[in-house]
This record gives sequence, structure tokens and C-alpha cells, in this order.
Amino acid sequence: MTTSIILSIAVIIIIMLAMAGLSELTYQFFGKGKKLKLGIRSDGNFEKSLTIEGGDKLLNTLQNKGYHIPSGCGGNATCGQCKIKLYTNMGPYSPTETPLFDRKSRADASKFLEEGIGNGYTRLSCQVRVDKNIDIFLPKSTLQVKKYSARLIKKTQLTSDKSEISLKPLKKFNFKPGQYIQIGLPDDYVEQHYKKYGEQISCFCKERGKDYIPFTPGIDLYRAYSIATIRRDVIKLITRVAPINPRVQIENGGVPCLGPNCTQEYLQEKSIWNLWAGEKVKFTGPYGNFCLKEEKHKAVFVAGGAGLAPILALLDQWFAEGRKEKVYFFLGERRFQDIPMLYISKWLHWQKIHHNFKFIPVMSGAFRGDNPSQLDDIDKECFLDLSEEHQKDIIKCGLIDKSGEKWLGHVGFIGPLLTNYLKHDDPKTTFYLCGPAPMTVTVIDSAANTIGLKKENVLFDDFTGTLTPSLDLIYQKLMMTKMFKQLGLHHADKDIEKITKILVIKLILRDKIDESYIFLDKIKEILAQQSDKEDLLNKLFKEYE
Ligand code: FES
Repeated sequence: MTTSIILSIAVIIIIMLAMAGLSELTYQFFGKGKKLKLGIRSDGNFEKSLTIEGGDKLLNTLQNKGYHIPSGCGGNATCGQCKIKLYTNMGPYSPTETPLFDRKSRADASKFLEEGIGNGYTRLSCQVRVDKNIDIFLPKSTLQVKKYSARLIKKTQLTSDKSEISLKPLKKFNFKPGQYIQIGLPDDYVEQHYKKYGEQISCFCKERGKDYIPFTPGIDLYRAYSIATIRRDVIKLITRVAPINPRVQIENGGVPCLGPNCTQEYLQEKSIWNLWAGEKVKFTGPYGNFCLKEEKHKAVFVAGGAGLAPILALLDQWFAEGRKEKVYFFLGERRFQDIPMLYISKWLHWQKIHHNFKFIPVMSGAFRGDNPSQLDDIDKECFLDLSEEHQKDIIKCGLIDKSGEKWLGHVGFIGPLLTNYLKHDDPKTTFYLCGPAPMTVTVIDSAANTIGLKKENVLFDDFTGTLTPSLDLIYQKLMMTKMFKQLGLHHADKDIEKITKILVIKLILRDKIDESYIFLDKIKEILAQQSDKEDLLNKLFKEYE
């Protein structure tokens, strides 16, 4: 009996010592539990020093102190929204972080880390573990982000896959048109959905080489939504839930639409859509600086899918302020039925009363071989559901024929149509883009090539983290195009066409940002050679085609 008591006490002591050793190890390696200093600087000589507990990720540390950093992917290094400038060397980029930075940021980081040159560097705050005192910069706009609650007051189905959600904030909420909020998700709902679709989604991620993000209990999930209105009392958002193959409903085995955040994106959309009117939601905001430039300028708005939301707010602001410069609004959708009928009447009305406004819907077709010019039964039903006056307006604008059978508007992609409306004449013309990456990237590429759109006049919200480096790559390619012309290569035009196809379609649109940079480096090397340029280029193209 005495021996067993002694043995039990010994075991307990060993366990306690082991735990102490473990916590000491954690303490040593990650500064867990250690009291550290976090210095925050901001615009206007703002400085603050906080005492924090070390060991956690910078994103979470800031959140715990009431500083809300945009974090659409919940800390999984896929959205790129949580970038923060650090004045302290917190180590190099993790491999998952690197693709979310363009070459310039990477070069600045190396200079700072290796040579101590420069005033800090930028990292994803979700990838920085705080294991020592740290100084950071937060823009004033981030300091103004707060936590809010709202009640869901209305849900309106806009199209088969898009809905409008109206939220009434429970306290005053200020924002600028074009900004976004992050809605927190009901945990139990997220867990249920992981149980239901987890395996299916995991297989799909594997097939497509995407990361599957498993469910982590206790971690708050937030989803970013752009505000679709200029009204302050009611926040309107557009949510989209679509199976990856729209012909197969999720319930019948279709795989949910996956963005860069994979599972989370789908779950978040779905869980918000399933909220009941009257239910309370938590959100943080406002975030982002996708806002109208104050100076006078011609504007081109390009929207697709749920990307319509901030564009709606910016257009509202444009006319609320009585701006008189020319404004084009390109809306890219698959078919007529995907245009929200709730808004089309407003745009047609604007076209009548504002001579500076031009609405240009462009239908791409849902699938290969799909013909959006021929209205199908759902398209026709959507058209007939409109009031007689609006039907007449649509016919009068030349979008649908008199019989209501055919779509007469543009079909295809927005990029090639730009020159029908815009000339190479106004260096201030600004593009505001929000929508699927293939649309955004190809429109920027076309506009840069055909009408000389300047890089500083391209504005978008980068919810995927890859649009910023993509923009850099597109403009590097443009510089290279000029070199081809200067060198007078025989097949310059064909070569440039091939480079565009490989770079934009094969690399950028498949999120191969690093490979894209390498591809352009190889072309630069070839152009610097004295001879055999054409042969070497052809070999390179074959390698990538
Ligand atoms: S939260 Fe850090 S990349 Fe998304």
C-alpha cells in the first residue's frame, strides 16, 4: 500500500516536471506566456506601446488587443489581406507567404533582413509568431476598425446564385463607399457543414492541387463582404453560393464552389445565407481603400458575379455627387438570367437621365459551347418577370430582340470590347474592377495593351492575394513588349501573343506567380543574347505550352 502511494506520488512529480519542462521549452522557443512589448506606429506621429503575451501569431495578438486586421482566409496565408509593415526583423517569409508578395516587396524584405537597409518590411501578420518585442506600423484606417453587431432584416434572391442581404447595425457604423466588412460565422453551423461536405471538398481540393483547410474548433471564421450601398443605416451585401458545376445542385452531388479559401469560402457564404431574418450577426469593419478618387477623371467600372457589390456603391456615389465625367459600366455575366433584374432597371434609367453613363453588359456563356445569344427558358422567364416598361427599355437599348427570344448585346469577354468605347487619349481614365480573377486580370491586360491604361489607374480589392503580383507581372510584360518592338524581331507580334497566352492564361490565372516571374526572367535573358533569339524563344514557348 505504502509502496503504491510512493509510486503514485513519484509518477505525479515526473508528470509535473515534464509539463514544466515542456512549458519551459515552449516559453524558450516561442516566448509563450512571456511578457513582451508591442509598439504600434501610425499616421500623424501616432505611437503606442502595449504589453502583450508572447507566443501567438501577430494577427491574433492584435485581435486580442482590439486591433482588427483584415483576414478573409482566417489566417491560412491564402488571402494576403493581413499584410503589416514590421520595423523589427521577425524572420524571412514562410514558403506559403512568398507567392503573395510581388518582386519589389520581396527585394525590399531581403535588403532589410540581410543588409539592414530600409525602414522595415511587410509580412502576413497571420504568419508571424511573436516571440520577442516587436514594432509595427498600422495605417490610420486600420486603427478605426471596430467590432459591431447587426440584425439581418432582409434577404432578397437576386439570381439563381446571388442574393442581397440587408443588415441593420445596432450602433452607428461609418464607412466609405467601396469598403468592406468581415462577418463572423456561427461556429455550430460551420462544424455541421464540415461534417456534411468535408470529405467531398477535401477530395476536390486534392484533385485541383489546392489546400484543404480542416475545421478548427474555437477559431473564429470571418468572411469579407463589400458593402453594396452608400446608405449608412442599412448595410447591403451580395452573397453568392454556387456549385462548381452549376448544372448539378450541391444536394445532388455537385461540388461546392471553391475559392482560394476552399472550404471556408463556401461555408461562410452558405451559413450567412441560412441566417433567419431578425438574427444577430457580429462583424468588424470598415476595411479597404477601394474608393473613388477625388480628382476629376473618366471612370470604367468592371464587375462580375458578387464583385458587383462595391461597384454598386461606387456608382451610387458617382451620381450622388453629381460627377459629370464619362463613366462606363461593364458587367460580365454568364447569361441574361445572371444579371440581377432588381438593378437592371436602375442602370437603364441612369442611362436615360445621365448622358455621361453607359451600361455595357457582356455575356460570356456558362460552358464551352453554350450560346448566351439564344435565350433559354430561364432567361426568358427573367425577362417576362420585368415590368412592361422595363422590357421595352431593354428592347429599346438593343439588348434583347422584339420577340424576346434573342440576346442582342455583347457576347464573349470584356477585354476585346474596350477599344469600341475607349480611346488611347485620357491618361487619367481609372479602372475600378471587382469580380472573378480571370475577368479582372484579362481586362487589365487588354486595357494596358490597347488603351495604355496606367498601373496607378488600376484599382481593385485583392481578396485572393494574387491580384497585386499579377498586376506587377502584367506591367512587366508590357515593358517587355516595348523591348520586342525596339529589337525589331521578325515575329514580334506573334511572340508577344504567345507570351500573353502563357503568362496570363497558363501561369497567372492558375496562381503560378513564382513561375510567372521565372518565365519573364527567362525571356529577358533571351532578349539580352546577341543571337539566336527567335530559336531560344521558340524552345522556351514549347517548354511552357
Ligand atoms: S489572414 Fe493572413 S493571408 Fe489571410
